[in-house]
Amino acid sequence: MSDEEAWDARYREENRIWSGNPNVQLVSEIGDLPPGRALDLGCGEGADAVWLAGNGWRVTAVDISGVALRRAAEHAAAAGVTVDFRRHNLAETFPDGEFDLVSAQFLHFWAEFDREKILRRAAAAVSPGGVLLIEGHMDHGPFRHDGGEGHQEIHFPTPDELITALDLGDGWEVLTAVIHPRQQKGPDGDMIERTDSTVKLRRKAPTTA
Ligand SMILES: C[S@@+](CC[C@H](N)C(=O)[O-])C[C@H]1O[C@@H](n2cnc3c(N)ncnc32)[C@H](O)[C@@H]1O
Repeated sequence: MSDEEAWDARYREENRIWSGNPNVQLVSEIGDLPPGRALDLGCGEGADAVWLAGNGWRVTAVDISGVALRRAAEHAAAAGVTVDFRRHNLAETFPDGEFDLVSAQFLHFWAEFDREKILRRAAAAVSPGGVLLIEGHMDHGPFRHDGGEGHQEIHFPTPDELITALDLGDGWEVLTAVIHPRQQKGPDGDMIERTDSTVKLRRKAPTTA
């Protein structure tokens, strides 16, 4: 089964997987930025893309799963916003263009996946003065598809490990690098606490004399 088929199958297991609300860290980290061009990597069912578009961003949103993208397009239509949804396997192809915000929210996979390579490519797509926001898990959650029972061991990097691996050089400043708790509805419907990481980097703009 290809990665695309694996994600389509995962999405078909349920009518909707995610909450439909934007990720809290996206809202808190980005809410103050002036809107511009945004790229949402691994947009899933589109809640972040819809929220960004509703707040004035021109959004390109990408996912490997056509099933997820159809749901995301329905969400955008229902919300009355325009989002440019595109299907890419980011391990192979990446959307053209330069963006004031590139966001990767929980761009994880239960199978082998070169996440850092995609995130380095993501950094290359950030405009001067723009922001790269990466939200990730720090552990295996109780969900089967987060790498729990039966899945291979995944290393979830700390913010410092991720920043080192990205190796972006001194043209970037670190705005946020934290590990933090987050409340989430668990597989049984009860609220559980997850441990996540936030990395927010700004590409320095050239200074004018
Ligand atoms: C854990 S989900 C997160 C979805 C969404 N960002 C959110 O926070 O609700 C990971 C998403 O990444 C997508 N994805 C995984 N591997 C991908 C790849 N190689 N290229 C593009 N998208 C991918 C999956 O289809 C899935 O929608």
